[in-house]
Amino acid sequence: MMSQYLDRFVIEPEEIKIDWPKTHAVGITKGGNFVYVSADMIHRYISGQTNTGKTTLAQTLMEVDFLRGRKIVEIEPALEAKNERGFMNMPNNDENMLEVLNKYFHVEPRPFRAIIYSPVTRKYRAFMKNDEGIRSKFYKPLKITEPDVVDLLKSIFPGGSIERLIVKKAHKLYTEEIEPKRKNRTIEGFLETFQEVGKNANFSSFTLMKLEYIASILHSDGKYKIDEILQKKDEISVFTFSFIPDPLDRYIWAMAVLNIIYDRWEDIKRRDDVLSFFVADAHLLAPKKKKDMIDTLVRYQERMKQNLQVYARISRGKGLVWTLDSQEYDDLDDVVVAQCQERFVKRMRSREVAEKLKIDYKELKRLHPKFAFFDDGYMIKKILIRPPMSRKARSGEFLPIHFVKEYERWENEEANY
Ligand SMILES: Nc1ncnc2c1ncn2[C@@H]1O[C@H](COP(=O)(O)OP(=O)(O)OP(=O)(O)O)[C@@H](O)[C@H]1O
Ligand SMILES: [Mg+2]
Repeated sequence: MMSQYLDRFVIEPEEIKIDWPKTHAVGITKGGNFVYVSADMIHRYISGQTNTGKTTLAQTLMEVDFLRGRKIVEIEPALEAKNERGFMNMPNNDENMLEVLNKYFHVEPRPFRAIIYSPVTRKYRAFMKNDEGIRSKFYKPLKITEPDVVDLLKSIFPGGSIERLIVKKAHKLYTEEIEPKRKNRTIEGFLETFQEVGKNANFSSFTLMKLEYIASILHSDGKYKIDEILQKKDEISVFTFSFIPDPLDRYIWAMAVLNIIYDRWEDIKRRDDVLSFFVADAHLLAPKKKKDMIDTLVRYQERMKQNLQVYARISRGKGLVWTLDSQEYDDLDDVVVAQCQERFVKRMRSREVAEKLKIDYKELKRLHPKFAFFDDGYMIKKILIRPPMSRKARSGEFLPIHFVKEYERWENEEANY
């Protein structure tokens, strides 16, 4: 305990200290005080309507956490197929943001190394075909092995409780008795065991079809294992699903990546390592409202919500901090929100939220993207957000090709300069 207390006074390494504390601030109050997010294991929640600066704020938090030495991962919106973080590899050049950075935070723009991982799909391969160096430098293929898929089937398989029970039983039998050696496990072997276990249940053929479908989607023959990615502390690791054409498949992938990261982190982390895990559009993964339940996805969403409820509760002890964002203040599952002690509210047209937070409705409804209301659990303050030092994708520029083009342009500019 004592050593932990003393640790707080330890001086930062020289290169990080240079701009301390402004690089670590998330904002500044009207009174001119810098505002920081907690350095403890506190989960965060960002809410706000579309185009109000959620993704931009998350980028600032990624930078802050990265400078603090946390491992950063993000999964990009599961349904929208957005891929915005490549831009972090360039310094911010937005004039409005630069003005704020300079005037209020005295911080220079700078790039952050962000590497983007994708499942190997036909679309991904087509994209990589035209590589002239930039694509392969920033976009890397994921490796999900058959033993990984076998474990995933257990943790993300949606279905009724009896169906799931059989899957669980089959998984236990297969992994503990039939194939205890992890690397020998195969999808086929697991499915055979499942058929054995489920023989007497008459819905097993439909369940089998679902299992086969999920397994076929999730197998990815790339080079980079999530275990290895989680150990790379010199980069921000982003998982994109923008090379997956089908929304259901994208969703399954997002669930899979989230689950693997969560499962594997415990084994991989060293004593004081903290994983800062950013999840965009979290309300689709743990929806509270019916309207966010999408017909074909309902079963998956319900499954995911159950997982996230458990994860949010026990993450702190595992050295994992979540930053979740969603569109409305109350569209994310209550159990999950309750675990987030630091909350940012961006512009929102909701009298209810204004009342709940005791802020002026008109102000909330008109809030400029530069600002946010920040609730640290004790107090709610309006803050001017520190813009990211790295470049933010402009509105509408969220495809990998937009990044590649801009990076090319930027490199040429740099060369001429
Ligand atoms: N701190 C800021 N200062 C100035 N402009 C900002 C700031 N944050 C965001 N903006 C502007 O607002 C626009 C939208 O920001 P951002 O993409 O972060 O919103 P979003 O809430 O994530 O939107 P979406 O719902 O589309 O994902 C950006 O293009 C940017 O120009
Ligand atoms: Mg966004």
